[in-house]
Amino acid sequence: MSNISSPTDSILIIDFGSQVTQLIARRVRETGVYCEIVPFQSAEEGFKRVNPKAVIFSGGPASVLEENSPRAPQIVFDSKLPILAICYGQQTLCTQLGGKVEGGHHREFGRADIEILKSSPLFDGFWDVGSQYTVWMSHGDRVTELPEGFEVIAVSPNAPFAIAADESRKYYSTMFHPEVVHTPDGSKLLANFVHNIAGLEGDWNMSAYRERAVAAIREQVGDKKVICALSGGVDSSVAALLIHEAVGSQLTCILVDHGLMRKNEAKDVVAMFNEHYPDLKLLHCDASETFISALEGEADPETKRKTIGRLFIELFEEEAGKLGGADFLAQGTLYPDVIESVSYSGGPSVTIKSHHNVGGLPERMNMDLVEPLRELFKDEVRALGLELGLPQSFIGRHPFPGPGLAIRCPGGITRDKLEILREADAIYLDEIRKAGLYDEIWQAFAVLLPVQTVGVMGDGRTYEFVCALRAVTSVDGMTADFYPYDMAFLGKAATRIINEIRGINRVVYDVTSKPPGTIEWE
Ligand code: XMP
Repeated sequence: MSNISSPTDSILIIDFGSQVTQLIARRVRETGVYCEIVPFQSAEEGFKRVNPKAVIFSGGPASVLEENSPRAPQIVFDSKLPILAICYGQQTLCTQLGGKVEGGHHREFGRADIEILKSSPLFDGFWDVGSQYTVWMSHGDRVTELPEGFEVIAVSPNAPFAIAADESRKYYSTMFHPEVVHTPDGSKLLANFVHNIAGLEGDWNMSAYRERAVAAIREQVGDKKVICALSGGVDSSVAALLIHEAVGSQLTCILVDHGLMRKNEAKDVVAMFNEHYPDLKLLHCDASETFISALEGEADPETKRKTIGRLFIELFEEEAGKLGGADFLAQGTLYPDVIESVSYSGGPSVTIKSHHNVGGLPERMNMDLVEPLRELFKDEVRALGLELGLPQSFIGRHPFPGPGLAIRCPGGITRDKLEILREADAIYLDEIRKAGLYDEIWQAFAVLLPVQTVGVMGDGRTYEFVCALRAVTSVDGMTADFYPYDMAFLGKAATRIINEIRGINRVVYDVTSKPPGTIEWE
C-alpha cells in the first residue's frame, strides 16, 4: 500500500541501533508532527523519500572509535536542516564535524543531574540557567573536543558536554536520552526541538489521517472486494472500520471464533459491531468444536500455536471461498511491525515464541494486502478508533493473544480445563473492573496450572487445580512489571474464584517482571 501519510512537515529519525529509537518517534508524533525512522544504512534513501524538515540522530550501541562504525550520510549536513543528535548520535555528529571522541572514561549509566550553563531554545520555558535537572544517561565514550561553532550548554559531573550546540546552524546534541520517561522533561525538550527550533507546527492528527487513509484505500481497492479477519481486538477493529468507511459494502469481515476466547467475547464483539455499525458485513464463524477437538490433550505450546494458526487459515479460507473470494486481505499491521530493526552487532535475533496472526494467508490465497495502520503506533490506533466512534470500552481493552486461552492452560488441554479457566478469568476481570483498576493495568489474565493441591472445603478434603493470576504494567508489551496490587484485592479475587468455581482450590499471584519472564506463561 502506498504511503498514506504524506503530511507536509516531517522529521527523519536516523536509527543507529538504540533500543529506544521508537520512543523518539512516539514523542515526536505526540507533538503533532509526522516522523519516520530509517536505519542508518539506508538513511540517504530515506532522506530523499521523506523530504524532512529536520533530522534526529538516535543513540546506538556502537563506539565511533571502532572501525566502520555507523555514520550519518553527508546529505543531512548538506541540507542545512536542524539536527538533534542523541547519545551515540552526538558522538557521530561531533566526529563528522571535526570534533573528538575518546573512550575509556568513567561510564555513566542511569540517572544523572545536569547543570544548565546557558539558555537555549531547546529548553526554553522549563529549564533555567544555573539550575540542575535529572536526565537519563547511558554511554561509555564521550566527546572531548567540540567541533567548530559548538558550545557547551549543560554539564554533568561525568559529562562535560551533556548538551552541546551550534545555535547558528541549529545543531543540538545531548549526551542523555530525552525520549525515555526517566528524563522527566525529555518530551518537552523534543517538543521544543520540533516547534521552536525546526519551526514545525505539524498536521499529524488522527482526523487528518483518517481522511488521507480513506482516500488512499479507495484508490488502492477501486471497486474490488476486501476481506478482513476480525478478532475484536483494537487493531483489527480499527482497520475494519477505516476500510468500511472507504469502500462500504465491498468489505466483508469474518470473525473466526476458535472457542478460546474469553467468556462471552465473540458474542460481545458481534453485538457491538451490529449495534454500532449495522452496515458493516460481519460473518461469525463458530468453529470452537473444530479447534477444541484438534487441541484436546495437546501440551506443547508451539504445537498449540501451530495447530491454531493452521486451522485458522483453513477456516478463513473456507469462509472467504463461500463469498466467492476477494482481491484484498485487510490486516491491522502496526508501525512497530514494519520498522526495519537495525542490527549493528550482526546475527539474527532470536524468536522466542512464534506469534500467530493471519501470517501465511496472503501468499496462500494470492491476495494483495490492505494495511491502513502500517504507519501508526498503538496509541495512535486507539486515537483513530475514538475518531471513528469505536466505543471506549473497546478501545481500552487489554491485549489478548491470538491463540487465546490455549496458551494459558499449560499442560494438556481439555474442555473442562478451558471452561474452568474461562470462568476464573471472568471473575478476576470482574473484580479488577469493580476495583477501578482495569485502565491502570496493561494486561491481566488467569492461568490454570496443571497442578493439583490439597484443600479443605467445609468438612471435606479437596484435590483441585491451582490458578495463577497475572497483571502487568507495560508500554508496548516488550518489557513489563508485575502490577503491585494490595493484598486485600488479591485476597478478595482469590476467595471468589475458589468459592465460585468447582475445580480450583488455590490461587497464587505471579510477581515476575519481563524480562526475565514473559507476559504469557507459554
Ligand atoms: P509475551 O508473552 O511474549 O507477550 O511477553 C507479549 C505480548 O504478546 C502477546 N502474545 C501473543 N499474541 N499471539 C499473539 O497474537 C501469540 O502467540 C502471543 N503470545 C504472546 C501477549 O499476550 C502480550 O500482550
